[in-house]
Amino acid sequence: MCSFETSVFHGLNIAPVDAFYALQQSFQEDTHPKKTILEIGVYRNENGKPYLLPVVTSVEKAMAEDKTLDHDLLPFTGLKDLCNAATRLALGNESTAITQNRVSAVQSLSGTGAICLAAMFLKKFHPAKTAYVSNPTWRTHEKILTGAGYEDIRTYRYYNPKNNGLNVEGMIEDLRNAPNGSVIVLHACAHNPTGVDPSKDEWQQIANVIQEKNHFTIFDMAYQGFATGDLDTDAAAVRRFAERGLEFLCGQSFAKTFGLYNERVGNLFLVCKESSVAAAFQAHITAILKPMYGNPPNHGARIVATILNNPALTAEWKDQLKGMSDHIKKSRKLLYEKLKALGTPGDWQHIIAQNGMFTLSGLNPKQVDHLSRKFHIYLLKNGRINMSCINPANCDYIVEAIHDAVTCCDTSL
Ligand SMILES: Cc1ncc(COP(=O)(O)O)c(C=O)c1O
Repeated sequence: MCSFETSVFHGLNIAPVDAFYALQQSFQEDTHPKKTILEIGVYRNENGKPYLLPVVTSVEKAMAEDKTLDHDLLPFTGLKDLCNAATRLALGNESTAITQNRVSAVQSLSGTGAICLAAMFLKKFHPAKTAYVSNPTWRTHEKILTGAGYEDIRTYRYYNPKNNGLNVEGMIEDLRNAPNGSVIVLHACAHNPTGVDPSKDEWQQIANVIQEKNHFTIFDMAYQGFATGDLDTDAAAVRRFAERGLEFLCGQSFAKTFGLYNERVGNLFLVCKESSVAAAFQAHITAILKPMYGNPPNHGARIVATILNNPALTAEWKDQLKGMSDHIKKSRKLLYEKLKALGTPGDWQHIIAQNGMFTLSGLNPKQVDHLSRKFHIYLLKNGRINMSCINPANCDYIVEAIHDAVTCCDTSL
């Protein structure tokens, strides 16, 4: 007889709440009029609001009026116009890998889906047993690699808390000491959470060791255009790897750069040495993605493809992307100058030296805690700040709070 009292899942524990979601919840429940959240994964404009790119709105409007568009399924590997344009955006129009047919791309469920497919493909077809991520890194990398079946996941040194910059010697040493042929996840630009990117010369050193050790790179490119405001500059590392003849996978997200977070638009491409491998990639990646979600979604993909395949719309988009990058740079400058003007102890230079949407502020867990308890300002214990959340209307309050936290709380833990 079947029991109505006991679930077959009886004993299932409540999973610990992710610190990120716990923080969002505390913020939601806070009723203080000056409450501020500096830890979100999405861009906010000068008014603290989500930004709908005008070029996206106009394309969506035209799409709504176009009676020829339907909701038929896309191929398993997605919208070709998106994949081709996205891959060109990363590798550049002059890419010999593209002209020699050594590149193969597939639409993905945004950046997360791209990295996920990359990890699953490598687990199936690449001999590496060990995968490396930067220390620190985006909090989902490790979970993706574990989910793909990697059991030996290690970190390479990346961030130097002493100068809030790159620990390039440590990084190179760790990559050199890694087992030959390991999988290495690299952030292409605008590193999350540190905002620290290698210089041109440092990328050269990284590429050298990757080549020497026969490592295989997964580039995570979630922020092309956010670091410097220039798409080509932000793609330089990926392009250099391709020019050197290195094989790698690159996952692109169009969540941030088009403000299309919930549409899940992404692209994963493989750059390899043989065109026959590039051709074979399509069927093998299809075999991986098909049992997970069948076909990818169309709406966001169509928007991005329309913009990237139309020079006038691309020019408009670049302008708006630059506007987002400029807002972040202005916020960095504003915060830095106000902290300096107030004489807040510490060297805040890294705030303007770092790139992209995030910065590791250098605030310690005690100071972070002080910010939320006394000032209703929320960030994670690692002190990461989403710089787009800072604007002229809230900056004074945030600076006053940071000054208080830094002067009141012990800097040693
Ligand atoms: C470094 C990095 N990679 C990938 C992603 C995933 O982005 P998406 O929303 O496109 O899945 C993020 C999002 O925050 C990120 O910061």
